[in-house]
Amino acid sequence: MRIGIIGGSGFYNIEGYDILDRRHIRVTPWGEPSADYIIAGRDGFEFVFLARHGSKHDIPPHRIPYRANMWGFRLLEVDRIFAVSAVGAINPDFEVGDVVVPDQLLDMTRTRGQITFYEGKFTPDGEFEHPGKGKDRVYYALREKKVVHVDVTYPFDPQGRKVAYEVLSEGGLKVIPKGTYAAMEGPRLETAAEIEALRRLGADLVGMTAVPEAFLARELEMCYTLITVVTNMAAGISTTKLTTEEVLRVSSSRKQRIIDLIYEMVKRLPEDLPPECSEALKGVMM
Ligand code: HPA
Repeated sequence: MRIGIIGGSGFYNIEGYDILDRRHIRVTPWGEPSADYIIAGRDGFEFVFLARHGSKHDIPPHRIPYRANMWGFRLLEVDRIFAVSAVGAINPDFEVGDVVVPDQLLDMTRTRGQITFYEGKFTPDGEFEHPGKGKDRVYYALREKKVVHVDVTYPFDPQGRKVAYEVLSEGGLKVIPKGTYAAMEGPRLETAAEIEALRRLGADLVGMTAVPEAFLARELEMCYTLITVVTNMAAGISTTKLTTEEVLRVSSSRKQRIIDLIYEMVKRLPEDLPPECSEALKGVMM
């Protein structure tokens, strides 16, 4: 098992661990990833970190190279990802500063593209072999230009969610163990009517990046856990103007505690990955 961490807004580097290596992946069949991958660790434990919006936050949500980012993790042999993201809260019971580990996703994006690796006959040519696993199912599906309909009934890693909830709560954060995340196109924030519509649809949180990230992870048979930090109450629920200053301030205030606790989370994870993610490509190719 090798762990990847994706840092969202306010989370661009790693502190408290030794920086062991920095990997610049310039070419993938899907372009160049958002930033260098940083290999960090302590006491023999290692993980791979990527700043989703670039190390200087110069990539907006709709321009993130989602496929290249996930492919880079695959090249670095990552099979389990914890992504940390800022969100607005729609559920009035949530508060700014809360950490929520969502269990469901609503895809409300419209023009994002990059929704799949598997484009049938339109799949690009490339070198798809996995450095650790050789010619695995992902290799086969891309090489054979398959059409793939991956099951995402439960889009997140059940083991990762459980461990994240336990460890972050014990670590002194207020953590809510489930919630439905609605992914909006961005980069603008939402109207009050949009938030009210999302609330009626059952959404608890709103953000801009979990789609397509979580679905692409599943397509590569990686197990993906989303850890969200409520940085603001969503439009129309908040009575004040929403600002990125507020988002960055709250997100940064939680990120260090979360990263400090990653080591403890990984120690508690079972070695065997759950089959809903690690065998996601079995039986779903045309
Ligand atoms: N809306 C969308 N994305 C967000 C928000 C929000 O209110 N806060 C942080 N990311």
